[in-house]
Amino acid sequence: SDLDAFITGLPKAELHLHIEGSLEPELMFALAKRNGVAIPYASVDEVRAAYDFSNLQDFLDIYYAGADVLRTRADFRDLATAYFDRVAADGVVHSEIFFDPQTHTDRGIPFADVIEGLCDGMADAEAKHGITSKLILCFLRHLSEEAAFATLDAAEPWLDRIAGVGLDSSEVGHPPAKFERVFAAARAKGLKLVAHAGEEGPPDYVREALDLLHIDRLDHGNRSLEDPALTARLARTGMTLTVCPLSNVKLCNVPSIDVHPIDRMLELGLRATVNSDDPAYFGGYIGENFRAAAAGRNLDKRQLATLARNSFLGSFLDDAAVADHL
Ligand code: HPA
Ligand code: ZN
Repeated sequence: SDLDAFITGLPKAELHLHIEGSLEPELMFALAKRNGVAIPYASVDEVRAAYDFSNLQDFLDIYYAGADVLRTRADFRDLATAYFDRVAADGVVHSEIFFDPQTHTDRGIPFADVIEGLCDGMADAEAKHGITSKLILCFLRHLSEEAAFATLDAAEPWLDRIAGVGLDSSEVGHPPAKFERVFAAARAKGLKLVAHAGEEGPPDYVREALDLLHIDRLDHGNRSLEDPALTARLARTGMTLTVCPLSNVKLCNVPSIDVHPIDRMLELGLRATVNSDDPAYFGGYIGENFRAAAAGRNLDKRQLATLARNSFLGSFLDDAAVADHL
């Protein structure tokens, strides 16, 4: 349709994408075979059938198990390449990619192989598609502060290739306060700061992310809407929210796409963006997220253009590069 073509043609940045969450079942099978890794599924269809989640933890259990097929530098390169090849067709011109080093280093995979493989794929994507990208290292919040510090230490040789740090995995019970000191250390190294907050956790976790972690960008943030003073503060300060519509539905944080608050966020003056989160698991890449939100909430071209524009304003590109994209 006309709106589909408009969405595809809108240049956009993706700001909330877990690269491990872009592992499609077909690549999972191919890597399992290449690396001689056993996986608990007989077919690609069986894998897809297992992607029926009631909450974040249900998903995380399957997502961490799937990541076990990623073993070598070439695997991480192939993973990144598959993502970029797919989103080139969605009009993505820039992507800020999360990766979870602890998921791999805890299995004995060298940090170097993870990051060098991702950087290989990023360089290929820039050459092949003209897509620019940055890396954001996420700490797994269900693990300890000490483990997060060890991960930040392990990243030291590659800090010139890491734009920032983030916080992901099981939210409830692992508030931002747990990582106040490690975020301060990352800030002292000149890294940008983001955190998942208010996906399943309460508005107070969003306040902690602002006041204790000093985040530059808020991942999800949906539950901020329960607190009008917090919502007003996010709007007033121009905080970018990296919203993930299909993820919210798949993880049952929003009952259906027809009642997703993406348009309410814009009306409240929030700098909301549209992203895919874990596209291989949640039913679509960024284009599908835009199309689902547009259909579910009857978004018009002005709203869609605002969402795409917000993705550049909220990116960690320098001002000249942002201006080039607007
Ligand atoms: N939330 C928290 N942790 C995650 C997610 C998410 O949506 N995706 C991958 N890790
Ligand atoms: Zn996420």
